[in-house]
Amino acid sequence: MFTNQEEKCARRALFCFMLATVWESASGQIRYSIPEEMEIGSFVGNVAKDLGLDVKQLSDRAVRIASRGRTQYFALNFKSGHLITTERIDREQICGGLEKCLLNCEIIVEDKMKLYRAEIEITDINDNAPSFQREEIEIKVSETTTPGSRFPLSDAHDSDLGINSLQGYQLSNNRHFSLDVQTGTDGVKYAELVLEKSLDREEQAVHDLVLTATDGGDPVRSGTAQICVVVLDANDNAPVFSEPVYKVNVLENVPQGTTILTIKSTDLDEGINKQVIYSFKKITDKASKIFRLDSNTGELTVVGNLDFEEASLYEIEVQAHDGGGLFGRSKIVIVVSDVNDNAPEIALRSLINSIPEDSLPGTVIAFLHVQDPDSGDNGEVTCSTPSNFPFELKKPLDNYYSLVTDRALDREQVAAYNITVTATDNGTPPLSTATTIPLRILDTNDNAFMKPSYTTYVPENNPSGFFIFSVKASDRDLDLNARVTYSILSTIYAERSDYKQFREFEVQVKAEGGRSLPLSSNVTVRLFILDQNDNASCILYPSLGADGSTLFEMVSRSAEASYLVTKVVVVDDDSGHNAWLSYHLLQVTDPAHFSMGLHTGEIRTTHAFADRDAVKHRLVTLVKDIGQPPLSATVTLNLVFAENFKSLFRK
Ligand SMILES: *[C@@H]1O[C@H](CO)[C@@H](O)[C@H](O)[C@H]1NC(C)=O
Ligand SMILES: *[C@@H]1O[C@H](CO)[C@@H](O)[C@H](O)[C@H]1NC(C)=O
Ligand SMILES: *[C@@H]1O[C@H](CO)[C@@H](O)[C@H](O)[C@H]1NC(C)=O
Repeated sequence: MFTNQEEKCARRALFCFMLATVWESASGQIRYSIPEEMEIGSFVGNVAKDLGLDVKQLSDRAVRIASRGRTQYFALNFKSGHLITTERIDREQICGGLEKCLLNCEIIVEDKMKLYRAEIEITDINDNAPSFQREEIEIKVSETTTPGSRFPLSDAHDSDLGINSLQGYQLSNNRHFSLDVQTGTDGVKYAELVLEKSLDREEQAVHDLVLTATDGGDPVRSGTAQICVVVLDANDNAPVFSEPVYKVNVLENVPQGTTILTIKSTDLDEGINKQVIYSFKKITDKASKIFRLDSNTGELTVVGNLDFEEASLYEIEVQAHDGGGLFGRSKIVIVVSDVNDNAPEIALRSLINSIPEDSLPGTVIAFLHVQDPDSGDNGEVTCSTPSNFPFELKKPLDNYYSLVTDRALDREQVAAYNITVTATDNGTPPLSTATTIPLRILDTNDNAFMKPSYTTYVPENNPSGFFIFSVKASDRDLDLNARVTYSILSTIYAERSDYKQFREFEVQVKAEGGRSLPLSSNVTVRLFILDQNDNASCILYPSLGADGSTLFEMVSRSAEASYLVTKVVVVDDDSGHNAWLSYHLLQVTDPAHFSMGLHTGEIRTTHAFADRDAVKHRLVTLVKDIGQPPLSATVTLNLVFAENFKSLFRK
């Protein structure tokens, strides 16, 4: 089928022929030339005119057209005398590749018995596009093929002639291939694909190209074929691990069978070239017993016991082989983390089983070494002992402890100890170890007085031979030491005691113990003499006359009220209540005229002297203490009111 465009072109061609192709051969032949593919009924030639026939007589003359062959391509139009087409004529179908395509027909004029020959040349029009036998071409090329290699392509075919036939090939734009078109000796053009640039299957496995064959017609016609270049793999890629170094952290108590890591390599090749096998490249004997690598999956599994204390880091080199013998390498770093899986260990470096009870505080009983193989807090150890025991731990050095006494020991109270030393680490949860250190306390002859000192009170004025007090030394020691003769059980007699002379005595008392190992001990007994109210007050002033009464005291008549007449001064040898004195007016001639200070002993007038007042006064005063029983003394004062001493003596 023609397209509209093609149809227009065909008509234009026809017009040219109508102008230029009518001619008569010398042999009486007529020749026409028409392009192929004309529509049925198209004008071929004016037969009537060319043969000199009258158009009006044509049908009468019984003019016939006879074609050779079966198909009648032409007929005569009796009205116009034109030879016209009766079929669509395809030059290529009738003549194939012949350069000159001629159709013959005979024009028979029956009444004249004349036969004319007409030769109609069918000229080519570009009614065929180049076409490929196979529209899809697959070419397999190894990726290792060197540039310059050529790959023949199947030809296209265009049955048109000359310029309308195949003129050339073009290749779609691409980076790897070019097209080389050659013309054979037979004039046939054939094309070859030329590799310009190396292929890389891993980069592009398939290249889709379009090969276009064109003719030289107007318009140009073309045909295309799809070229599919399949790049075949070569083992040109080594496996590549996803990481240059795989780092993984594991706890040392990870259960056996745990997969801790999966290594992975990729190989850009395909097929066997892509299949990789994993293996250890470099591994220590120890690590090879702990880790297993799955050669297919790359899974690294723990199959042995990890122990941080033994090794905290493993480095393993691994490789991956592909089926083509190329390999890639990587490294695995396994960092083992500590778990508090070790309790502290206590080692006794030295130990004494017993110490004497009189050992001084700070005496070393044992020397301990503690350690914890764990690290960090898990290995941080502290030691302790029960706080109610008379022992403590000292830490002279890192990891070393000494167990010492921290106060005085007393075998008679506790004769043996089981000292538990507990070492605890700082882990979460903490682990601890305890060890028991047995210790016996050895007896020493430590008999002693019951008390460090004694104090006793003795009343004064006791008679000689008076029993005062007894001290007692005791002995709690064992065996021989306990059989103490109390040779010095002593009593203390006060030969004479007078509070006024000795208020306090100190007596050293000595006790002697065990026979085998005599030990002496002394104690201070402190003796206090208690006062007795044994002395009455002794009056110092006023001084007494021979009759026991005082001399006359002169008081000026002009003395004002509250005039200090005299003061009674008394001492009392006793102490305390026994010496707490009070003063009283016992008997007074004129009681209204005098007063006495209760505690001062001062005697004062109560008012100024008046004429009606008596001149002489007798005052009896009493001084007493408040002891048990109370003791007292009296003194009598004689007072005279006078102008002056002369007047007194005048009396
Ligand atoms: C100390 O422990 C031992 C052994 O368990 C025991 O026989 C002994 O009686 C204990 N001693 C004391 C003082 O607890
Ligand atoms: C009393 O004891 C002390 C210390 O125990 C000792 O030095 C002193 O000699 C003793 N005195 C007597 C009199 O034995
Ligand atoms: C106190 O009394 C004692 C005993 O009665 C006596 O010996 C002593 O002399 C008296 N002292 C005075 C100062 O009177």
